[in-house]
Amino acid sequence: MRIMHCPGIWQKRPILNFREGKTGQSHIFLIPKTNDYHISALVLRGFCEMEFKDIVMQRYATKQFDGRMIDEQALFLLLDIIRYSPSAFNLQPWKIKVISASRIKASLRPHANDQPQITTCSHLLVFCANTELEPLIDKVLWGMEQSGMPKEMVGQYAGMIKGYIGSMTPEQRMGFAREQIYIALGNAVNGAKSLGFDSCPMGGFDPVAFAEVLFLPEEYVPVVLCAIGYAADQPPAKWRLPREDVFF
Ligand SMILES: Cc1cc2nc3c(=O)[nH]c(=O)nc-3n(C[C@H](O)[C@H](O)[C@H](O)COP(=O)(O)O)c2cc1C
Repeated sequence: MRIMHCPGIWQKRPILNFREGKTGQSHIFLIPKTNDYHISALVLRGFCEMEFKDIVMQRYATKQFDGRMIDEQALFLLLDIIRYSPSAFNLQPWKIKVISASRIKASLRPHANDQPQITTCSHLLVFCANTELEPLIDKVLWGMEQSGMPKEMVGQYAGMIKGYIGSMTPEQRMGFAREQIYIALGNAVNGAKSLGFDSCPMGGFDPVAFAEVLFLPEEYVPVVLCAIGYAADQPPAKWRLPREDVFF
């Protein structure tokens, strides 16, 4: 594998020792000026052999995991799949707590209706709304400039987005963040399947108790969970509304 150019902090991380894609040409690319990077499709191809439709059809809400841990490389890929989720204005109003420690999972389980997924999963992702939207606006505008958008256009965009977000009540901000988070959740569950493991999206938990146990800063509000790991149960038969009930 070749790392095309990587900022120091990431070069030190063993996580970059990706298994090579089938073609043997795995690259991690640094995105110019942003200090960000993305993983080439070739790396992903080494992990993901499934067609998207099979991923969607075979994914199911796993009720019991077998306790095995997802390796760091696969986790890293999933977190990137989540990170690249779309969001309105590209604001990305989420902050996702990644929990692997058994002790913390055990403390959380009573606050999630004692659901076994919490303690049997490999990692529990706590999707929180980031309600501090103004700093995110500044970051997005900076990102746009870095991506080469003309300053004038960035200025126009800034006026529009600041006006829109600035007029929101705190409740509307939470609603806005929630909407975006569920898109990231969709990527998380399908992304997990694509990488060879299982997941359970979970809304059955007490967000206040979670915030307390996790010592979350006030601005991060838990919205939904995603337990990930290797299933120890069998997928139940899928049932969905018929097409005519869904589309019109
Ligand atoms: C937002 C959301 C919250 C959910 N909360 C829970 C939960 O707390 N516990 C659980 O076992 N499943 C939960 N589920 C899973 C659903 O019950 C499941 O997706 C649905 O029954 C369809 O089954 P399938 O995902 O296996 O196809 C949740 C799903 C979503 C999208």
